[in-house]
Amino acid sequence: MTSNEILRQKALDHLFIQMFNTVQMAEEGGPILIESGDGIYIKDLEGNKYIDGISGMYFRNVGHGREQIAKAIYDQISKVSMDVYAGVTPVTVRLAEKLSKITPGDLNKTFFSQGGSLANESSLKLAQAFHMRMGDKGRYKVISRKGSYHGATYHTVWLGGHPGFPREDYQPKPSHVVTVPQPNIYRCEFNSSSEEECGELNAKAIEDAILFEGPESISAVIGEPVSQPLGGVVPPPNYWPRVKEICEKYGVLLIFDEVITGFGRLGKWFGSEFVDTVPDIMSFAKGITSGYFPVGGTIASKRVAQVFSGEADKTWIHAFTFSSHPGGAAAALKNLEIMENENLVENSRIRGEQLKENLIKIKRDHPIIGDARGVGLIQGLEIVSNKKTKEHFSSNIGVNSMLTEELKNRGLWIRVPAFILPISPPLIVSADEIEKITTIIDESLSTVEKKLGVS
Ligand SMILES: Cc1ncc(COP(=O)(O)O)c(C=O)c1O
Repeated sequence: MTSNEILRQKALDHLFIQMFNTVQMAEEGGPILIESGDGIYIKDLEGNKYIDGISGMYFRNVGHGREQIAKAIYDQISKVSMDVYAGVTPVTVRLAEKLSKITPGDLNKTFFSQGGSLANESSLKLAQAFHMRMGDKGRYKVISRKGSYHGATYHTVWLGGHPGFPREDYQPKPSHVVTVPQPNIYRCEFNSSSEEECGELNAKAIEDAILFEGPESISAVIGEPVSQPLGGVVPPPNYWPRVKEICEKYGVLLIFDEVITGFGRLGKWFGSEFVDTVPDIMSFAKGITSGYFPVGGTIASKRVAQVFSGEADKTWIHAFTFSSHPGGAAAALKNLEIMENENLVENSRIRGEQLKENLIKIKRDHPIIGDARGVGLIQGLEIVSNKKTKEHFSSNIGVNSMLTEELKNRGLWIRVPAFILPISPPLIVSADEIEKITTIIDESLSTVEKKLGVS
């Protein structure tokens, strides 16, 4: 056995590797052993170089190998490595102030956590505590949308609902979770082919759920402005503004999960700007540090935040030991500075348009691509066995594994989950690199189609 093979075996023996089956992984020669990263590229220990096609996990906004961020973390934690109990560090205050400036509307006051799941947990707790302070003690239910993903904690895993994240192991389903459809125009649950109607009917589904459950029992609606798990579901333009109106009508808070859409992925600083709707509470994580340090957070509007000030019994009692880590705040501030200096949000928009054009062409040319969707640098292709009926291939054919292998052989690292091929490179991606990515996808699809006999 080579030293890499030994290391790979140790990984299989001693690590739970996210959600993957280690036997299958071993058969495929995995896991990939990452040695280093540079720009949009990663290199494995065998010396193979790949384009990081989904930015790690939708977080590597400024790309790999940014020494300035590593140095900012080093400098900060050499000085002070963590808050003291009931204290704050200047760097954390600077980050909170910065966020209040760059987030939309009057989002103003932040609670920091360590990732997206904890950010959403905090947002949901904040929403419920808000209603308690307002005297609405029965508002505890949360409405979320099918196909969304909001995290892996016991609470967040039951929100949304996506075939890639089964929940049978985690019983019982919390009784306060209510699920409604997602406005995916390619598969509108209301069988509408009109974007506007699909948007209206999906918003109405939220209103119907509020009325069915009883408005006095609903705390919040949570959703991503553009939802990634199904390949970048861009809602019809009327959807989120209408949902916001409905929320306001019934005294329900709107929480945007901007864990992926925040910090430039949609070609705007925040997804809220893209969908022209300001939430009451926003969760963020991933791109805030481009993954150089695990940071997430919950930012609340002035209206929400102010109910927690005043007498002692108004206080929001919520804490994690490692909230507000100064190393994380230093990483975030440097990351945001790089994004501003290099105009990466605008690059995301422009490269997103180029990517979109190429993916639409791929959809036209390939019999197994039913839809090309997304915006900015959250895009995806939906793989179908029949374009007319939109049926998926049976999972035992393993189209996703075949495609993953072909992409990898050509130097693009995207592990294709089920029937969606996600494409989300770092925001620094160049025009030539977009061409390279789409050429690899095009060639890989042709090879897979040949193997399936459907060319
Ligand atoms: C939209 C969204 N929300 C929440 C999460 C959970 O974040 P984390 O894995 O950092 O806990 C994710 C993770 O992919 C996500 O995509």
